[in-house]
Amino acid sequence: MSLPDVKRFSHGSRVPGWDDAVDLTKDPQEIPDPATTPVPADLRAEIEHHIAKYPDRRSAAIPALAAAQRLHGWCSPEAFRQVACVMRLTPAYLVAVASFYDMLDTRPVGHKRVYVCTNISCSLRGGRKLLGDLQEAVGENVEVQVRGFECLGACDIAPMVSVDGVFVGPVDEGEVQELADQINSGADPLPAKQLIKRPSADPNANTREWDRPGTDFEQVESEIERPAPGSDPLPTEPSSFGPPMGRPDPEDEA
Ligand code: FES
Repeated sequence: MSLPDVKRFSHGSRVPGWDDAVDLTKDPQEIPDPATTPVPADLRAEIEHHIAKYPDRRSAAIPALAAAQRLHGWCSPEAFRQVACVMRLTPAYLVAVASFYDMLDTRPVGHKRVYVCTNISCSLRGGRKLLGDLQEAVGENVEVQVRGFECLGACDIAPMVSVDGVFVGPVDEGEVQELADQINSGADPLPAKQLIKRPSADPNANTREWDRPGTDFEQVESEIERPAPGSDPLPTEPSSFGPPMGRPDPEDEA
């Protein structure tokens, strides 16, 4: 099949930005009245929790909108009103924030979010073809959106996919249908390929909750060289790239 075109917005970017001009004929918006704006208790509690973390409540706009999106499936007008009511802001302020971030959906979309990375590392390993193949395999499912994404920060498992925040990869061509079936049925996506289950060079970086066939963690731990307690782990000799990190450059001191 041909590679899918990665969607670009009219301004040329792959992320939305501000596409909709302000409507100057509308009255200025007001902060929603709590007496006439019912807000689900759980959503209110989560938004208040986020507000409490910042000196300026507007700093909580993104996590508050994300919470509303989880509840409503997208940032609907009702979601904006509820968040605005709790945050004591206008919905227009929140629309301006949400429209800048392409993980906040300001139009109705499938609430299951599947992002296929099409950035450089994943593209070089077939990411764009994977996007097209997965869209085709998932088919017409209004509850699911399968879209390209610009680097999810898991380039070492390229080509990779995020299924509602569960990172899986490297995804092989032969696994596309299995992954699509899991996405459509709500099953755990490619359990053996989930990033969270991969061993890390840092023994404290992820959990040991899952078995990893062939990995003897006691042996891995015993083979890691760590500086003796109290010793200075920084190298003292300069390399061809310059002085060791954390050491003053002798030329500066001269
Ligand atoms: S390039 Fe795909 S995760 Fe970074």
